[in-house]
Amino acid sequence: MAKAFVVAVDGPGGVGKGELTRRLAKALDFELLDSGAIYRVLAYAARKAGLALFDEDSLVQEAKFMNLTFEPTDAGVKVLLGDEDVTLAIRTEEAGVNASKVAALPKVREALLQRQRDFCVEPGLVADGRDMGTVVFPKAEVKIFLDASAEVRAKRRELQLKAQGKVADYDLILSEIKERDDRDRNRAVAPLVPASDAVVIDSTDMSIEEVFNKAMSLVEEKRKGL
Ligand code: DC
Repeated sequence: MAKAFVVAVDGPGGVGKGELTRRLAKALDFELLDSGAIYRVLAYAARKAGLALFDEDSLVQEAKFMNLTFEPTDAGVKVLLGDEDVTLAIRTEEAGVNASKVAALPKVREALLQRQRDFCVEPGLVADGRDMGTVVFPKAEVKIFLDASAEVRAKRRELQLKAQGKVADYDLILSEIKERDDRDRNRAVAPLVPASDAVVIDSTDMSIEEVFNKAMSLVEEKRKGL
């Protein structure tokens, strides 16, 4: 029986998982799961509904019933909450910090598990997150843990924002990255750690092309062995 081939890509915020997973999904013609976007939309929906970001039971209800869609367009994936286009609103630094807060709540993570697993369809899936290889897809065919120093990630983010004509303060970005890292790595449930069978790629001194080529070679190697 044919089975979906899963490539799990985990790692800290700002490490380039988004760019890598988009390229991988395109090259392999696989489905793409941006699990961070789900947590970001949940935090956004919660704020909009006036919920506190620690109100676990209310957040679980929101997680179960929020009407979230990812709509592929020529310009990228559009993220919709009901009819509202939240693509840009969920990409701010604040939205990332808020997502990290709701993501630390065990019942919220549990409530979002099936929604994430539903993305797994043939011929395959590239999944981007913090716990793809450890919790959501523990049997993934390829597991990659992409890492880079907080300083390099902050510098990349600063350049990215400046390229978009936005104001960017390196020290503030670095402190937000460190705060988010600390919460994501030290939470009780599904903390950010490499799966025991993950290949760790430290991208600190690598270009996106080098990271992509390395990831593709891992996929090809695994496919040959199947
Ligand atoms: O990947 P991202 O920056 O869009 O994720 C935003 C936050 O969501 C991140 O700080 C932690 C949380 N997250 C998570 O806990 N588990 C995932 N699989 C993906 C994201």
